[in-house]
Amino acid sequence: MNSIRLRSFSHFFLALFLTLAAVGNSSAQDVGAAPAVSKEGVTPGSSDAGNAGAAATPAAAATPGAGGGDAAAIAAGDALFKGNCAQCHAVNDVVVGPALAGITKRRPVSWLIPWIKNSSKVVASGDEYAVKLFNQYQKQQMPSFQLSDQEITSILAWVTSQEGGGKAATGGGAGTDKADPATDTKLGAGAEGGAGQYADVLLIVLVVVLIVLVVTLVIIANIMKDVLRGRKDLDGRDIEILEQRFDWSKLYKSSAIRIGAGVVFTLVILYESVQGAMGVGLTQGYQPTQPIAFSHKLHAGENQINCAYCHTSVYKSKSANIPSANICMNCHSQIKTESQEIKKIYRAIERKQPIQWVRIHNLPDLAYFNHSQHTQVGGIECQTCHGPIQNMDVVYQYSPLTMGWCINCHRETPLNTKGNGYYNNLVKLHDQANGAAPFTVSSNGGTECSKCHY
Ligand code: HEC
Ligand code: HEC
Ligand code: HEC
Ligand code: HEC
Ligand code: HEC
Ligand code: HEC
Repeated sequence: MNSIRLRSFSHFFLALFLTLAAVGNSSAQDVGAAPAVSKEGVTPGSSDAGNAGAAATPAAAATPGAGGGDAAAIAAGDALFKGNCAQCHAVNDVVVGPALAGITKRRPVSWLIPWIKNSSKVVASGDEYAVKLFNQYQKQQMPSFQLSDQEITSILAWVTSQEGGGKAATGGGAGTDKADPATDTKLGAGAEGGAGQYADVLLIVLVVVLIVLVVTLVIIANIMKDVLRGRKDLDGRDIEILEQRFDWSKLYKSSAIRIGAGVVFTLVILYESVQGAMGVGLTQGYQPTQPIAFSHKLHAGENQINCAYCHTSVYKSKSANIPSANICMNCHSQIKTESQEIKKIYRAIERKQPIQWVRIHNLPDLAYFNHSQHTQVGGIECQTCHGPIQNMDVVYQYSPLTMGWCINCHRETPLNTKGNGYYNNLVKLHDQANGAAPFTVSSNGGTECSKCHY
């Protein structure tokens, strides 16, 4: 009866270890969760926020943002910027919209918040700066964003931290490099860098602390075993526990472990094949070599030739035709006549055969897309869908051209209904039903299957 209860000793250490692990884990996740202020959950930490509460200490989860401070706001801003703004803005370069460096010096925050929430409202209010900017950018409308004031300030904080090319603040910076198609596909993935980094450092520290703890505990346990072996008053069960060894071969033979490993293996294979299957037919970044080394950078960029000079029907009809050799000859009957590349144009004309340009953008036949609806009626810039063509020596497919891509834009883009009597009643009904939500392309039926499918 007076034997020492070894079990309670080992249970005590196990409990101590688990508590430390749980506390460490939950505070790490809490830091990760702090920047996750977005409703859409663009930041990776958001999905962990629930776990942090469930793991151990609810108190830790109840104070998100505590101790996060500026770094967390900047990290959140980074993710929000990449998720919402990077397709049109960079900090130090003009993309579709202006470069945002120095924005907080140009404009007060009290102007920026309503602008980012709904720029067309600010333009419509007659604000002088807004109207001028809007006209300067060919009346291209920046979409409305349902972001909170806090989310907008964190975007601005991030922009400020990046000014003057300083990319060090949050590492990554992947979303800003527009010229590289490979990075463009990762606009969403880039969001993970910023918010996660802060938590990573903490995690590493915690892992080191835990390893030190485990080693210390093993040493203590061994010392105690030695002490106990010296004692005479142990009963049979205690000796059995004392001499217990961890049997690795048992672990290997255990069917539970084998089944577990099998399940994990199958899940990994399944995940990989689903990912692979989802990529089938996706041709983003496709950049074939063309029969003549025609450069958009040289023509549309440096020589400022209007897109519609060559793609003559882009504002008038469904498709944006590719120019015939005759259009090239308007200039190349005089310009660069000795060039090997230009001689290919002459040869095509002599043989009365069209130049065999390789088609890049190609929707499947089941989908209907109309250029004039977007460029002329919708007033969307070519670059919104095709990227910085004027900087491309060789054209590549900039956008994914998936159904999700079309639909996202239709959900987000407000329809220009001003001065169009056709919409008056529709907009009135929409506003009654939806309050402040903007009248978007999808409000007008732009996400109905039959609009895009024959
Ligand atoms: C679809 C493209 C697009 C997206 C996405 C976009 N913008 Fe813009 N933005 C523009 C354009 C174009 C302008 C120029 C004004 C105009 O034409 O309306 C502009 C102007 C601005 C300005 C004023 C700049 C100045 O120099 O005064 C700010 C600030 C701004 N955007 C912030 C943002 C933020 C923040 C986001 C993300 C939440 C964002 N924009 C997303 C296209 C976009
Ligand atoms: C001097 C004539 C010329 C001008 C100006 C021009 N393009 Fe092109 N464009 C071509 C030719 C030729 C091709 C086919 C060869 C190629 O893909 O490079 C082409 C191809 C394209 C493609 C890819 C078509 C496909 O196969 O899917 C896009 C997109 C495009 N142009 C957009 C633009 C935009 C946007 C502008 C204005 C910024 C522009 N182009 C200005 C001649 C021109
Ligand atoms: C509006 C005038 C214009 C049109 C139309 C035009 N080009 Fe050009 N092209 C130029 C100019 C300007 C240059 C630059 C010449 C220089 O570098 O001195 C050029 C250069 C080139 C070059 C580079 C030649 C070399 O060896 O450096 C190629 C290739 C070319 N054009 C192909 C085409 C093709 C193909 C078309 C028809 C789809 C076309 N161009 C239509 C004006 C035009
Ligand atoms: C709303 C997005 C969007 C805008 C804006 C847009 N395009 Fe396109 N463009 C597409 C899609 C999608 C295709 C593929 C169409 C298909 O395969 O039927 C395409 C195809 C093309 C092609 C290949 C020929 C064709 O018609 O299939 C050219 C050239 C082109 N676009 C030029 C332009 C130019 C120039 C502008 C600006 C004046 C422009 N695009 C604006 C989405 C857009
Ligand atoms: C950059 C934003 C954007 C993208 C990307 C985009 N659209 Fe649109 N789309 C618009 C806008 C804006 C309008 C409304 C134009 C208007 O009528 O004022 C529109 C209108 C339409 C309409 C007419 C809807 C109606 O109510 O009559 C069709 C059809 C359509 N788009 C098809 C497509 C398809 C297919 C794609 C993808 C290949 C696509 N769009 C991608 C912005 C976009
Ligand atoms: C804004 C335009 C648009 C609307 C609205 C739209 N689609 Fe699509 N859909 C597309 C485009 C573009 C593709 C081709 C995308 C691709 O190849 O990845 C597509 C592809 C598909 C495909 C895949 C076909 C295949 O071969 O992979 C199916 C199925 C489909 N759509 C069904 C629907 C249904 C059902 C609806 C209504 C709920 C709908 N779509 C509404 C544009 C649209």
